[in-house]
Amino acid sequence: MLKPGPVRTRTKSRCVVSFAYLAFEGYENELLSEINYRAPKEVVIRNGRLFLLDLDLNLVWAQLKLTKFDIIKIDSINDAAKKLKAENKKWAAYSFHMHRRTELIQEKVSRGKFKKIKFLEKLSNHDFGFWCLLEEKKMLKCPSTLNPFPIGKIEFVEETATPPSRAYLKLWETFTLHVKPPEKNHVVIDMGSCPGGWTWVLQTIGCKVISVDKAPLDPNILALPNIEFIKQDAFKLDPSKIKKPDWFFSDIICDPQDLLNLVKKWIKRYPDLRFICTLKYKGATDFVTTDAFLSIPGSRVFHLCHNKHEVTWIKDS
Ligand SMILES: C[S@@+](CC[C@H](N)C(=O)[O-])C[C@H]1O[C@@H](n2cnc3c(N)ncnc32)[C@H](O)[C@@H]1O
Repeated sequence: MLKPGPVRTRTKSRCVVSFAYLAFEGYENELLSEINYRAPKEVVIRNGRLFLLDLDLNLVWAQLKLTKFDIIKIDSINDAAKKLKAENKKWAAYSFHMHRRTELIQEKVSRGKFKKIKFLEKLSNHDFGFWCLLEEKKMLKCPSTLNPFPIGKIEFVEETATPPSRAYLKLWETFTLHVKPPEKNHVVIDMGSCPGGWTWVLQTIGCKVISVDKAPLDPNILALPNIEFIKQDAFKLDPSKIKKPDWFFSDIICDPQDLLNLVKKWIKRYPDLRFICTLKYKGATDFVTTDAFLSIPGSRVFHLCHNKHEVTWIKDS
């Protein structure tokens, strides 16, 4: 072990790091730009998608945040497996190099039988451990990620028959991990709803859905009960002309600043409205507008495993 102790670890470069952040696959640059935006002077050590630094940050683009980890020396594959097995954990590996060596170690330790989950299924109370080879004989191991999914990646048994797009997975993930779903008979407005994945999810959980888009809704979704479709520009819809909703959803492709103005218009009319909206970025992450969303009381922002170059804003109080 290079330095004992659960939190402070010393890397080869003599840099003290206490926190590790794993970027979502394909969004490493976004995580790095977020670190640079939030902590411009911080030294960052990068290992593939894993970023090590000595600062506790809440990073939207991090799939996993590791706090109590050790960086230890290992002599061999067997030694690595022995050191992992010494802790009675279900371990999940992340590899950015030495994939075969990682596999051979992982095969020797219990991964736990992880199965894809069904929507609204009760989550297991697994707290997966995370480990990664930093070098051939140096391993980072974090026995507790406080996450029930291996390396923080949620996977669903997908519904292929009805939803007309895979966008429904964003709502499934949001309702599984971040917020209680709306109640039965809640009135929900779904802006930018076509072809209808979100409208379908909301309808299946018993909501009365006002579905709004300039484009047509998938006919199979339109035919379902409790869906009213308004074919219109969401930005031109007058909130006072709509039955008071309990929830406002938006997956509209638009500039985050335009969405912010739209949201503020609806909050002005209905201050206790709850929101789940996707902020879609054209190029680099617009941190200024993202922070403006975060400054609205009761707000949180996440990048979901099922988000693309976009994040999800939730206001549920
Ligand atoms: C990513 S898709 C939404 C997918 C949808 N959530 C689903 O689950 O199927 C974005 C939608 O925003 C709609 N949109 C873009 N600008 C809009 C506007 N000004 N008013 C209403 N809808 C708009 C597009 O027509 C498109 O259907």
